[in-house]
Amino acid sequence: RKGGYDHFMLKEIFEQPSVFYETFYSSLPCGEVEVLKNPSEITVIACGTSYHAGMVFRYLMEKCSSIPVRVDIASECRYFNPRQDSVVITVSQSGETADTIAALKKAKAHGCRTIAITNVLGSSITRIADSTFYTRAGPEISVAATKSFIAQVAIFMKIADLLCECGFEDEFSDIYQIIEDSLLTETDDAVSLCSNASNLFFVGRGLFYPVSLEGALKMKEITYIHAEGYAAGELKHGPFSLLCENTPVVALCTGDESRLLMLSNIKEIKARGAPVIGIGSVGDQDLEELSDVYIPLPKSSEISEVITSLVVLQLLAYRTAVKLGRDVDKPRNLAKSVTVI
Ligand code: M6R
Repeated sequence: RKGGYDHFMLKEIFEQPSVFYETFYSSLPCGEVEVLKNPSEITVIACGTSYHAGMVFRYLMEKCSSIPVRVDIASECRYFNPRQDSVVITVSQSGETADTIAALKKAKAHGCRTIAITNVLGSSITRIADSTFYTRAGPEISVAATKSFIAQVAIFMKIADLLCECGFEDEFSDIYQIIEDSLLTETDDAVSLCSNASNLFFVGRGLFYPVSLEGALKMKEITYIHAEGYAAGELKHGPFSLLCENTPVVALCTGDESRLLMLSNIKEIKARGAPVIGIGSVGDQDLEELSDVYIPLPKSSEISEVITSLVVLQLLAYRTAVKLGRDVDKPRNLAKSVTVI
């Protein structure tokens, strides 16, 4: 069932070109997309990796629309009351996460219009929400979410595109090939650095901040190395004191609006002795010169680099876990579906 791959996680990572393509190009129920056109606010509620997909959506919407988007961790929704005029989108690969279900029920009880995004047909959240958008990832066996996350990001990109006419569809004409190319990325030197470390930071700005959070989550989940995702500009407000030659920093520095600020953040990190794994656009000489290990992404637009950098971070976590001899598909203490509060 692993289709010749050593682990389900690797198989699922390699399915991502078609998963992204099929999810982005699938049609969404028009009426539901209309509902999203004029809310006073959209609230996304989720846990773990699904929460990071919601954060990507927030940055996308901020770029191209004036609809405010907030993103809440489901387990914290107990302490907040949703606004009745808010459209609430709950995101859950399994559709069975207890905290997400509780938050969804609360939103319904407050009279909010609710939408579920899930990968599992007929799962619990689909029976509670007013409507459902399905991701097209297919069954995901590995505990670590990979293709289901890419599918969530795809559906959020699709929603943003429909709401704001961002033109993503044009930018994605060659996305299948670009994701395939990213699967060939060489990471040996980065894996050596990571597998010898006890602590890692993942940093990014803007759209690449949630990417860094997801990269850190994937790394800690399957390698058991302590990894923190941080907004690059926040490092100087505390974490700088942790930086030293044994604390590699994975820096997402792509060809977008945050590149120059990221380059100066990388200089600050280097000045404190931490080795930098720089992930960015192919041909970025400044990044290559500053980085101890430079990982170029296939040539593409900023929005496609969100996807390709996620793929590279998944591969980095997977290969580091394999090098350390971890149980990749079933990391200790974790379950695929978290049905307790
Ligand atoms: O099924 P869900 O998307 O609701 O699960 C939420 C989290 O438990 C999940 O995303 C978790 O963080 C991932 N397994 C991490 O890879």
